[in-house]
Amino acid sequence: MINIAVLGYGTVGSGVVEVVETNKKQLNKKTQQELNIKYILDLREFPGDPYEDKIVHDVDIIMNDPDVQIVCETMGGTGAAYKFTKAALEAGKSVCTSNKAMVAAHGTEMLEIAKKNNCNYMFEASVGGGIPIIRPLMTSLCHEYVEEIAGIINGTTNFMLTKMEREGADYAEVLKEAQKLGYAEQDPTADVEGHDTCRKISILASLMLGKTVNFEKVYTEGISKVTADDFAYAAAAGYTIKLLGTAKALEAAYDDEARAAGKAEVSVKVSSYMVPVNHPIALVNDVMNGVFVTGNMVGETMYYGSGAGKLPTASAVVADIAECAKHVGENIKVFWDAEEAKLADYLETETAFFVRTSADAADAVFEQFPDAMNIIVDGRNDAAFILPVMKEKDFVAFAEKLGDKLLGRLRIYA
Ligand SMILES: NC(=O)c1ccc[n+]([C@@H]2O[C@H](COP(=O)([O-])OP(=O)(O)OC[C@H]3O[C@@H](n4cnc5c(N)ncnc54)[C@H](OP(=O)(O)O)[C@@H]3O)[C@@H](O)[C@H]2O)c1
Repeated sequence: MINIAVLGYGTVGSGVVEVVETNKKQLNKKTQQELNIKYILDLREFPGDPYEDKIVHDVDIIMNDPDVQIVCETMGGTGAAYKFTKAALEAGKSVCTSNKAMVAAHGTEMLEIAKKNNCNYMFEASVGGGIPIIRPLMTSLCHEYVEEIAGIINGTTNFMLTKMEREGADYAEVLKEAQKLGYAEQDPTADVEGHDTCRKISILASLMLGKTVNFEKVYTEGISKVTADDFAYAAAAGYTIKLLGTAKALEAAYDDEARAAGKAEVSVKVSSYMVPVNHPIALVNDVMNGVFVTGNMVGETMYYGSGAGKLPTASAVVADIAECAKHVGENIKVFWDAEEAKLADYLETETAFFVRTSADAADAVFEQFPDAMNIIVDGRNDAAFILPVMKEKDFVAFAEKLGDKLLGRLRIYA
């Protein structure tokens, strides 16, 4: 029998218990083990809950029980979660988590401890909720030189952008609705300013390179400046607007000489992008997530599904439980070292831009960019253009020149 302890009986933790109990026969058959939830740790009591008898409040009961082989950390944060994860791994118990904050900040440290103690630290649910994306990167695509990852990996902002597109609504309006529906927190900063996406794309980029992409160094902007006006022009030009986390492998990613010469390995950004409506990622709507991965041999692949929510996220945690159950006492190698990957200076990277300006700025736009494409929407008193690919620093200089005639700007994903 394999005993499991769940730390944190909230949305995901209770989902883990539900998935294990509902699919127990299938889980036992596929792992060739008998899995049992032995403890559930939480701060609160759960009177009347069907698993009330498994609730404990002292983590040491779990840590000191040699019969617990797998721990699920579904508490969140990097305080107690850090302490408990470390203690469990040091005790030789595998840890499965949905906690992206922990994985982005302490992933390699936990992987190292797991290796030393012949157990595993698994985090499929930390990116894209129920979508299998971590394991495909580590296994199915392990032989590929992954060239690019682009992901819609935050359901809240995707819900908001989808609503803005469909209803012509403005940002503040859809934020209120997302909060009312429980999709957005009362303080929505982590979602709308792109911080959550930043942690997740940093995890994926780290797995792509086998090194650490430090999320604190990733250029990040969110959706709070996207307007209904931007959507009107995007639609006219055959685009939609999505918040993407992107990671592009550069020459030094897979070339020792270029790396030795100090060249950057990867360009990682989080930004609102105009995406052509016929690109597969443009079809990822509402709270759904999608990750587009390009390998040098396989070409384009895409992973789509529920990026959050109780059962989808718990399903990914339980996939990790199954993997740990099949490998008790054995560490599965994860290619993700603590060494930091060299990130490109975003100002030196190249992007095409959409700009919305006051009507009298057209001459200045065409003077600098004779090839700029003017987007025409009848009855408007502003103007909009698609500018050619340029270095970000050149765009910054142009934006300064336009001053308050620049009303909005978005990157274009191609
Ligand atoms: N919800 C999702 O859809 C989703 C999706 C993907 C990833 N995640 C990640 O999964 C993790 C859990 O999210 P969640 O939505 O399930 O959160 P949640 O509903 O707030 O659940 C967390 C639970 O952990 C308990 N807890 C917190 N600190 C504890 C401690 N020191 N000892 C014992 N119990 C403790 C909380 O108790 P109290 O309520 O009493 O504080 C709560 O019951 C987070 O890292 C989140 O980012 C969530």
